[in-house]
Amino acid sequence: MSTNKLILTGANGQLGKTIRDLWATHEISAKFELINFDRNDLDITNHNEVDEKLSIAGASIIVNAAGYTQVDRAMQDSQEAFAVNKVGVTNLANWAAANSARLIHVSTDFVFDGSKNEPYSPEDQPSPLGVYGESKLAGEEQLQELLPDRHLIVRTSWLYSEHGNNFVKTMLRLMSQRDQLSVVDDQIGAPTSTRSLAELLLACINGKILSGLYHWNDGGGISWFEFAMAIQQEALTQAVLDKKIPIQPITTAEYKTPAKRPAYSVLNRSKILADFDCPTENWKQQLRVVIDAIANAENIEE
Ligand SMILES: NC(=O)c1ccc[n+]([C@@H]2O[C@H](COP(=O)([O-])OP(=O)(O)OC[C@H]3O[C@@H](n4cnc5c(N)ncnc54)[C@H](OP(=O)(O)O)[C@@H]3O)[C@@H](O)[C@H]2O)c1
Repeated sequence: MSTNKLILTGANGQLGKTIRDLWATHEISAKFELINFDRNDLDITNHNEVDEKLSIAGASIIVNAAGYTQVDRAMQDSQEAFAVNKVGVTNLANWAAANSARLIHVSTDFVFDGSKNEPYSPEDQPSPLGVYGESKLAGEEQLQELLPDRHLIVRTSWLYSEHGNNFVKTMLRLMSQRDQLSVVDDQIGAPTSTRSLAELLLACINGKILSGLYHWNDGGGISWFEFAMAIQQEALTQAVLDKKIPIQPITTAEYKTPAKRPAYSVLNRSKILADFDCPTENWKQQLRVVIDAIANAENIEE
């Protein structure tokens, strides 16, 4: 076993679980020992705990898959959102700075306000619409300041997997329970499977060392309504659903949520595609793989 250690924080989130799923069969496992910290093992908001536990574990790389991800709840709970998404990242970055480690971090399309109508590049000016995006942007800024040469930030969007809670699993559940559904058709974004993101992150650690700010998704720019239609179609094809229900397109104004969402948040992947050998499956192929994983899961977790 190599003495190189990689610490994964937020190991029980949907991205964290996918990284763990891929780890055993990935060539990176011959180079690094993976140390998983879920929230019970390590609360990243606690500065002393971060210093103590990371120092005991020792690591040359931290992958931060921990985050406060509840966009609507963040509006009432901004202290907790900033504690996790800003202070937590600061704590990890400070430890990495003092211990010559690298920090790989994931951020969000919600740092943008959605007023653009072509894909956002990493150079575009962020302007979050709500607390979640503000707290994620604050975390990015801390990391860039505290660890200028040894960080990688990958912004992504519309994450889903067979794990945890996400749009795909919610749609499958509602489509099996209801006779019809209404889904927002005027917010455009790009779905991203945690599998493609995890593969990208592991490749970025294993191969050419990448640092700086990048954007990643599974290609395309679609509305939630179009995504729901594709989910239904794929689930019918794979016999995960046994009946087709009508799905109505609706507007954001007809579906009120506490937090405002960007109307357009497709991220431009050109920079990472130019700098790195990335996973090549598009969002429809990724969706097929995830629905297959959901179909084959013995117990679909919530
Ligand atoms: N989900 C999306 O659509 C999306 C889109 C763009 C970017 N992202 C970003 O991608 C990353 C991964 O997202 P995800 O969907 O995998 O999130 P997730 O499923 O919500 O997982 C986040 C994990 O972080 C843990 N966590 C929360 N507070 C913590 C703390 N103080 N200390 C340690 N762990 C803590 C959570 O534990 P508990 O479950 O116990 O709270 C959970 O296991 C996040 O940075 C997120 O902002 C997500």
